[in-house]
Amino acid sequence: MAAKICVIGTGYVGLIAAVGLSDFGNIVVGVDLDEKKINMLKQGKSPIYEPGVEDYLNRNLESGRLSFTTAIDQAVQDSQVIFIAVGTPEKENEEADLSYVQAVVNTIAKNLIDYKVIVTKSTVPVGTNRWIKELLEKETGGNNFDVVSNPEFLREGRATQDFFHPDRTVLGCESEKAKEIMFNVYRTLNVTSVPFVWCSLETAELIKYASNAFLATKITFINEIANLSEAVGADIHLVAKSMGMDGRISPKFLHPGPGYGGSCFPKDTKAIASFGRKFGVKMNLIESVIATNEIQKKRMVDKIKKLAGTLEGKTIAILGLAFKQQTDDIRESSAITIVNEIIKDGGTVQAHDPKAMDNFSKLFPDIMYCHTAYDAVKNADAIMILTEWNEYRGLDLEKIKSNMNGNILLDTRNLLDPDVVKDAGFIYEGVGRK
Ligand code: NAD
Ligand code: UGA
Repeated sequence: MAAKICVIGTGYVGLIAAVGLSDFGNIVVGVDLDEKKINMLKQGKSPIYEPGVEDYLNRNLESGRLSFTTAIDQAVQDSQVIFIAVGTPEKENEEADLSYVQAVVNTIAKNLIDYKVIVTKSTVPVGTNRWIKELLEKETGGNNFDVVSNPEFLREGRATQDFFHPDRTVLGCESEKAKEIMFNVYRTLNVTSVPFVWCSLETAELIKYASNAFLATKITFINEIANLSEAVGADIHLVAKSMGMDGRISPKFLHPGPGYGGSCFPKDTKAIASFGRKFGVKMNLIESVIATNEIQKKRMVDKIKKLAGTLEGKTIAILGLAFKQQTDDIRESSAITIVNEIIKDGGTVQAHDPKAMDNFSKLFPDIMYCHTAYDAVKNADAIMILTEWNEYRGLDLEKIKSNMNGNILLDTRNLLDPDVVKDAGFIYEGVGRK
């Protein structure tokens, strides 16, 4: 039987959850405070760039199973399963900010007129779901509900594939009734043999943070080895590829670059280190990863300074502003640190990104934004490739070179073949290869 679901928060995670859960045959209402977002969604338009999402959005709107509203009280009252998918950004003290979650829980408490399952999809520190349970008990004076921790593992840019084909579905769930309901919500994944991990609330919460922290560590490790490769004259591509041939290591997340970014690895590594301290466990490795990743971003600025002599009075073409390809998201993008440093050192930035220029211009209104990569390199002294957009792999190097003042190309994602770039007359540098 179709479950009646309300997804609160229609950002990257909530929107995908809403379209995905309705595609599974459930009746879903997506709720947000942001009226502009809700109006766009009602019209079948996605407020974010995410490949494939509009197809799912329109298909499910047309089926009548999916709707959107800002009327949160009614949406909660009408649903049996309430997904919380609001943001948990970093606070100044590096803890996760739970104020959005708390506001939603207060609203749910007011509208708990019959039994409901409250499902936390937002990434929340260990102990939060237990706290939500206690808060609801206190506010409602009863326990006509269950709380489930269901962390999300999707990646931006591949969000729909990840939602429909997850490696696992983790459900921190401590009641048989809620387990049956959640099984029904996700029945389609069961049919496709996705493993379900049933566990306690705390275990589910920690699985999420441990997974993100491990992936951030793996990237930081390969960045450090890339830096060593440069010093000793080794080729990081072959090092990473051969390491990855060992099944215990795997080749995934071994691509060196300008440091990881995005809305999750930076904040989640800081949050786990922070609640580790709270529980009396110092997370030395993770703290080192956080610091090393910051150094990696600055290292890219040092590289360009060294290549250009000075940045004072130089024009730097930045190709790629998003924190990774296939997204318009610039949260914690390495480009933010790098552009800031270039400007601070007296350089001028001409930037291009296929999807993220609107978002970046809200932070940096005064740099020059260009329609194409070729426009961005016009009269530039140097180029920095910061995001691994496929279109940068196929750049016409001769055309680029003839448009530039200088001939420096710093490829922080190792997208290009160094020999081909050098043959085209550039001074080339990548990460981890000479
Ligand atoms: P987001 O900022 O894109 O979206 C959050 C949405 O919640 C916004 O649209 C906001 O308007 C809405 N909102 C805030 N308070 C609200 C309220 N009281 N009522 C209704 N709506 C409200 O955030 P996101 O990137 O989707 O992340 C959400 C959570 O999922 C975070 O905890 C994040 O760590 C986690 N997560 C994110 C990703 C990702 O790739 N972005 C992946 C896995 C997990
Ligand atoms: C990441 C995780 O991969 C998801 O499983 C998780 O759900 C999500 O965080 C989250 O909790 O929000 P995402 O941030 O969308 O997903 O993107 P990733 O593909 O993981 O990339 C993160 C950063 O690491 C990017 O800046 C990317 O360029 C960088 N990266 C990734 C590397 O530098 N090298 C790699 O080999 C892989």
